[in-house]
Amino acid sequence: MKTKLIVLSATAALAAGCATTPPESPYYAKSVAYMKAGFKDRGQAKVSERIEQDSLQKACSAYKTDPIPKDLAESMQAEQMATIKPPSDGKYLGDWKSGEKIAQSGQGGQYSDDPKRPSGANCYACHQLTKEELSYGTIGPSLFNFAKVRGFGPEIQKYAWNKVYNSHAYSACSSMPRFGHKGILTEQQIKDVVALLMDPNSPVNK
Ligand code: HEC
Repeated sequence: MKTKLIVLSATAALAAGCATTPPESPYYAKSVAYMKAGFKDRGQAKVSERIEQDSLQKACSAYKTDPIPKDLAESMQAEQMATIKPPSDGKYLGDWKSGEKIAQSGQGGQYSDDPKRPSGANCYACHQLTKEELSYGTIGPSLFNFAKVRGFGPEIQKYAWNKVYNSHAYSACSSMPRFGHKGILTEQQIKDVVALLMDPNSPVNK
């Protein structure tokens, strides 16, 4: 009886999977093989961790040239939303001054970085955040005056936390890293970065 139940639920999962599974990109296997042949593990930089995509990344690669179907994007976003853990003490805001240092730092993950040091978030690589910092990327929208424009209340605090924790919960194929879900930042670091976005005293909101 037990075996039968397991078989039945496995079939149900497969059937549900088929409705939403994207076609595999024809280039996926080839590019993985090239990358495996061309790169070597070095210290904490492991080839397998860098090039093996999870199901969300595979789906986004498969639809790179087409808009991803709406129902698939929505189911992927719901899956990513379910990975988000709220702060354990319920407080979203840490210290914006530490948040600014984290946003500025691109340390972490490379073979030449000390794995014992906490990683940075490199937010400035993609976003403008303050007027003081003149060097920033424009892949993402400017976040200057983020809370001043969007509001300082609990709903926006929660959105900022969720977006930093797992950006793909709102935009299935976002190019923003999943800082909480992938363990890039600690809980305290995410609070500090959220404070940089949300604190009325932060230079982001001046
Ligand atoms: C590799 C580029 C990249 C990095 C690094 C990055 N982001 Fe983003 N971010 C984006 C892109 C692209 C968008 C817009 C598309 C989307 O929503 O995914 C975005 C959107 C956002 C939004 C939503 C803006 C809105 O108007 O709703 C917030 C908030 C945000 N990022 C905060 C951050 C913070 C804080 C960091 C650092 C902890 C960071 N991002 C790092 C690329 C990046």
